[in-house]
Amino acid sequence: KKANVLLDKSAIIGKVDQRIYGSFIEHMGRAVYGGIYEPGHPEADQQGFRKDVISLINQLNVPIIRYPGGNMLSAYNWEDGVGSKDERPRRLELAWQVIETNQFGTNEFMDFAKKVNSEVMMAVNLGTRGIDAARNLVEYCNHPSGSYWSDQRREHGYEEPHKIKTWCLGNEMDGSWQMGQKTAEEYGRLAAETGKAMKQVDPDIELVSCGSSGSGMPTFPEWEATTLNHTYELADYVSLHQYFGNPDNDSQNYLASTMELDHFINTVTSVCDYIKAKKRSKKTMMLSFDEWNVWYHSHEDDKNLEKWQIAPPQLEDRYNMEDALLVGGILITFLKHADRIKMACLAQLVNVIAPIVTESGGDAWKQTIFYPYMHASLYGKGSSLQTIASMPKFDTKDFTDVPYADTAVTYDEESEELTIFALNRHLQEDVLVQFSMKDFKSFKVIEHIVLENPDLKLTNTALKQNVAPHHSGENHWENDELQVKLNKTSWNVIRLK
Ligand code: AHR
Repeated sequence: KKANVLLDKSAIIGKVDQRIYGSFIEHMGRAVYGGIYEPGHPEADQQGFRKDVISLINQLNVPIIRYPGGNMLSAYNWEDGVGSKDERPRRLELAWQVIETNQFGTNEFMDFAKKVNSEVMMAVNLGTRGIDAARNLVEYCNHPSGSYWSDQRREHGYEEPHKIKTWCLGNEMDGSWQMGQKTAEEYGRLAAETGKAMKQVDPDIELVSCGSSGSGMPTFPEWEATTLNHTYELADYVSLHQYFGNPDNDSQNYLASTMELDHFINTVTSVCDYIKAKKRSKKTMMLSFDEWNVWYHSHEDDKNLEKWQIAPPQLEDRYNMEDALLVGGILITFLKHADRIKMACLAQLVNVIAPIVTESGGDAWKQTIFYPYMHASLYGKGSSLQTIASMPKFDTKDFTDVPYADTAVTYDEESEELTIFALNRHLQEDVLVQFSMKDFKSFKVIEHIVLENPDLKLTNTALKQNVAPHHSGENHWENDELQVKLNKTSWNVIRLK
């Protein structure tokens, strides 16, 4: 198959906010305990953080990490996780039916975030709690001193405030699985009043209003319209969550599911703009896609887990080649919405539906999805460019007119680097793409990275990186055009300077 893509330096969708390459650590499964934190492990530092895990996270260049949940957030008492570790209570954690020891909490997470050079997206419990607990947490974290909670922080050994800028107002409050589920009206009012109090404590913070748990929710998109009616002027972002899977083993349909994602983003954007018009507001609401990933491989195993364990292996999806392709496609979709998506979190970061896996007491290793995520985070910088593509299309079970290849292009004026991300999602056909490079004629290809394997079900293991990128992508210049061969089912990163 043949295709054409036209690049234009001045056709800018939006500036890429580096925070779209964020991730998420929830207190669940082995994300914290046995993941980032394992005192006694040979790689543990003085605080118990695993240095091997830190080094892998640093390779991913993660700009922001959401914490502490997730479903767990909706019944969490943040006070349980601060102060002397000996006095911290063990609690029944209802969302995931485990024991939470609270040996790790807010301050430990702030220390950890520093070690991986990440900002923190903190979340407050709007399930079982509300205004008081939220404003106290902002005071504890961000107020310098001279008040009850800020002085508590100082007594706990943190003289300087954490200065956390970004705060989520609850998590998935539309979901029946949530402790303290709310109607859209109830949530909207509570979020608005809580956000107001939080901003009174620290006017510099940014707030994320809770969107739907996914586009399949029966209350979507009315939830967004009703809640934003209350939170529009106060919040800076509305959240989106979406997980993907291939339970029917229809890989062609699965790889086309970014079409649905694109539709979801467009719908939420439209609802935001509807509320903007309704309120005669000058403000444009931005999107925080703060939970996304593939999640389905572990569903069966999780049903058999015994309850009330400490850090059991929950949601430990083992990702294969096709999952890596889909993750690449999702990142391309985000880049194409760089004007509105300003933050996004790959859920999650370690062990729990994660690019990084640890063996308890043993090594840490990279899943297949590690690679496209790393490539986007390292090279998807600067401005996202609008391209004009003429691309052959096909149909799948759920989608029509699916382009064989999906591309996103970023241009970083500072480093003068151009990056083309390209996914060929077709199961049988290679695609030869002719990129018209009129503004980039003098550029040279620095590298053409490819992630591919004919076995779409191939996974990595602790012992072997079966799925890993190579650098032998095929491309050549023909006058002002860059001809790029996108092999069937491949993820490509073409870097030029
Ligand atoms: O990331 C796993 C879970 O997915 C989160 O706890 C929840 O917010 C979502 O349903």
